Amino acid sequence: MTNTNLKTGRRLQQIEQMITKHYDHIWDCCCDHGLLGFSLLNAQVAETVHFVDIVPDLMTDIEGKLQNHWQGSQQAWQVHCLDAAELPLKQLAQTDKHLIIIAGIGGELLIEIMRALLPLCTSDQIEFVLCPVHHNYKVRQFLIAHQLGLINESLVAENKRFYELLHVSRQSLKALSSVGSVMWDFNNPMHRKYLDKTIQHYQRSTQNSSVDAHAILNQYLSLKKNTRAAI
Ligand SMILES: C[S@@+](CC[C@H](N)C(=O)[O-])C[C@H]1O[C@@H](n2cnc3c(N)ncnc32)[C@H](O)[C@@H]1O
Repeated sequence: MTNTNLKTGRRLQQIEQMITKHYDHIWDCCCDHGLLGFSLLNAQVAETVHFVDIVPDLMTDIEGKLQNHWQGSQQAWQVHCLDAAELPLKQLAQTDKHLIIIAGIGGELLIEIMRALLPLCTSDQIEFVLCPVHHNYKVRQFLIAHQLGLINESLVAENKRFYELLHVSRQSLKALSSVGSVMWDFNNPMHRKYLDKTIQHYQRSTQNSSVDAHAILNQYLSLKKNTRAAI
């Protein structure tokens, strides 16, 4: 698949780098033009890469590209024009290993999709890589409340925006933090900048006298103390 003409940016490349093992199924949910899925298909990191988006034209376009350019096995890909909240997970073998990727959508929509998906995840062999746009704290709180543990996390900057990438599963016993843990490298100026921006955001929110914002702000301020220790 060299003929897709588009290249993945830093954020999608970082997601790819987080995938360090082989899965039976990788679901590139909310895949848009399918860039990440094409790249994963080329990398052969799953038996089947599923391209999922709710917009029919996008899926017709992706299906056409795959039919015209993919020279590997026909079992290697499937295209689903579907709400990501309705993945057909129950139709597949319980023992299959799945990675569900949901990236590039707002945190609140991501939570709604996860709320619908988790009851469908009857097998423990399901991992998620999530990359919300905004509302990272809320997403993390949701995942913690639903007993998802941390596999890995990382922070990436692309087009002057910061993104948190979360690799989580129910099988992992490592606690997920509401404000991030292993992703932080306080020797990295980019990470310190992101923390400062996040603190400023919650400082503004406290002006609306939100009790939650005060509590959240204090957690990020505790991290800030660590940055001073690190540099
Ligand atoms: C900005 S694109 C993200 C593309 C890619 N995942 C990324 O991270 O760059 C968001 C995509 O999400 C799709 N989308 C929004 N809600 C969806 C849902 N409930 N189910 C499936 N796709 C959805 C949109 O059609 C759009 O193509």
